Amino acid sequence: MCGIVAAAAQRDVAPLLIAGLKALEYRGYDSAGLAVLNGGEIRRVRAKGKVREMEGLYRADPFPGGTGIAHTRWATHGVPNTANAHPHVQGGVALVHNGIIENYATLRGELEARGHVFTSETDTEVMAALISERMVSGKSLLDAVSSVVHELEGAYAIAVVSDSEPGRVVGARRGAPLLVGVGIGENFLGSDAQALIQVTNKIIYLEEHDVVEITRDQVQVYGHDGKPVERAVHESELSKDAVERGEYRHYMQKEIFEQPRAVADTLEARISPNGVLPNIFGVGGDELLAKVKGLHIIACGTSYHAGLVAKYWIEEYARLPVNVEVASEYRYREAVVPDGTLFVAISQSGETADTLAAMRESRRRGYLGTLAICNVPESSVVREADLKLMTRAGPEIGVASTKAFTTQLAALGLLTLQLAHQRGLDGARYADLTAQLLHMPSMIEKALELEPRIIELSERLIHRQHALFLGRGAQHPVAMEGALKLKEISYIHAEAYAAGELKHGPLALVDEDMPVIAVAPNGPLLDKLKSNLQEVRARGGELLVFADGEASMDGNASRGVILRMDGGGDFIAPAVFTVPMQLLAYHVAVLRGTDVDQPRNLAKSVTVE
Ligand code: G6P
Repeated sequence: MCGIVAAAAQRDVAPLLIAGLKALEYRGYDSAGLAVLNGGEIRRVRAKGKVREMEGLYRADPFPGGTGIAHTRWATHGVPNTANAHPHVQGGVALVHNGIIENYATLRGELEARGHVFTSETDTEVMAALISERMVSGKSLLDAVSSVVHELEGAYAIAVVSDSEPGRVVGARRGAPLLVGVGIGENFLGSDAQALIQVTNKIIYLEEHDVVEITRDQVQVYGHDGKPVERAVHESELSKDAVERGEYRHYMQKEIFEQPRAVADTLEARISPNGVLPNIFGVGGDELLAKVKGLHIIACGTSYHAGLVAKYWIEEYARLPVNVEVASEYRYREAVVPDGTLFVAISQSGETADTLAAMRESRRRGYLGTLAICNVPESSVVREADLKLMTRAGPEIGVASTKAFTTQLAALGLLTLQLAHQRGLDGARYADLTAQLLHMPSMIEKALELEPRIIELSERLIHRQHALFLGRGAQHPVAMEGALKLKEISYIHAEAYAAGELKHGPLALVDEDMPVIAVAPNGPLLDKLKSNLQEVRARGGELLVFADGEASMDGNASRGVILRMDGGGDFIAPAVFTVPMQLLAYHVAVLRGTDVDQPRNLAKSVTVE
């Protein structure tokens, strides 16, 4: 999941490419590079590390040129170093690539046998060599790219320039996103609209197998069969402000604080005090949902945790069986699909390779239909689903997902209510759950007021190596999400357990060096959880307990702290209790001095398997 930007313009493009790459760094940031065509010459600069490292080199020795390609990398084949950084150049062809070419070893062997010499360990360089070989034999850049992509196995989005065709960039996509930005007297390619929003808001979303050629004044897309096709131009609603950090120290902090607004936007015009409004999942949605006899929810990472919360909700209130599974497992096993099962994909980006592949695989498995819960309207997951419910979180830049998660819970709350209502949930309970969901934004707002207390608590964790998170019921996935946040950005090893499992193994780890963080809202399981906490206390473990305001915790935190808050009711408490988990991870990471928005080894949008 690297980032690509390319441009054909009259002005010098290197500064535009660098600005675009910075907006794309969430996709990968272990090395970066750009190549610019100036007349018949390719100039290139590459560096290990963040875009600013490469930018420094460029600024020390800038070069002009109106056509160029650029890349920020998340290493798959070959370690992150300058030699493996894109663009790769072979025989006057420069190329940037996002994805994985599965048959690259065979192709590379064949090319080496024909005398090509490679300078990197990447799968990308073989594409540049193949294209340059075709051009030597007389093909244009466009024809060379179109013929080479047919021989590739795997996934790619590419942008290519050739020193023999100045002023032209050719792009292609399969299994990885690529779009065109249409400007005035200049045109662009990018992995997503965020990279291009500073130059244009007119976007063409390329389809699978498309090849595109851009010059300063023309954009031409070619479909699967190589014939020219028309693709609609969309006006992107992204605003430049949405991707700026403002007064906040990190995007993650900004995004945590945006949650009341984002959740309110996700609920807006979809629910009233009387309940969920008709057909919010798309035309015919309610009719399809009425036929559902069970659900399979598929997702990755944080989105998977949202699915786990929904399982508790839907099974309790709608009495429908729900399976939740990570996409990377689901896609390769023969899941049993009972009649009437709805396939639900949850994804912030809508481009996660495993989730998308699972959804495509589901087509073969006889589902009643597919529903996408997603934050990016033009994404592949949304385009390929029968029903959709968009989360309206706005662009999420921090690699550790925050507002995407709570807006997914809001959307899944709507789904739960709709399914439950259709299956005859008691009217008073339906009204109560509806009221709770409507209060989710204000309850999250209140939870954010805990920040000063959480900053104090964070001190207790900064020198720890490990942490355990405990929750019961629908709070177990919240504990999992808390542990994921902490390990992602602070690099403290953290695991989550359903609190009742503690005694079956992890209790062996508890001593005075093991902080135990418990999510403990009111509810029928609170007494059970308190007993679990006693088990920790008896072993000298340090407890940090997040509890509902009035609940008595019986001196549970004699070695530790109880932080009281208002969970807003049994239904929405998982969303509200997520907030202190996010703030805790954030402030521990800040105190430990890690790169909060771009933690090591991770990327925000994983468009490779
Ligand atoms: C990556 C991100 C996670 C995210 C996961 C799923 O691993 O780092 O934060 O939860 O992908 O992404 P999706 O866009 O499908 O929700």
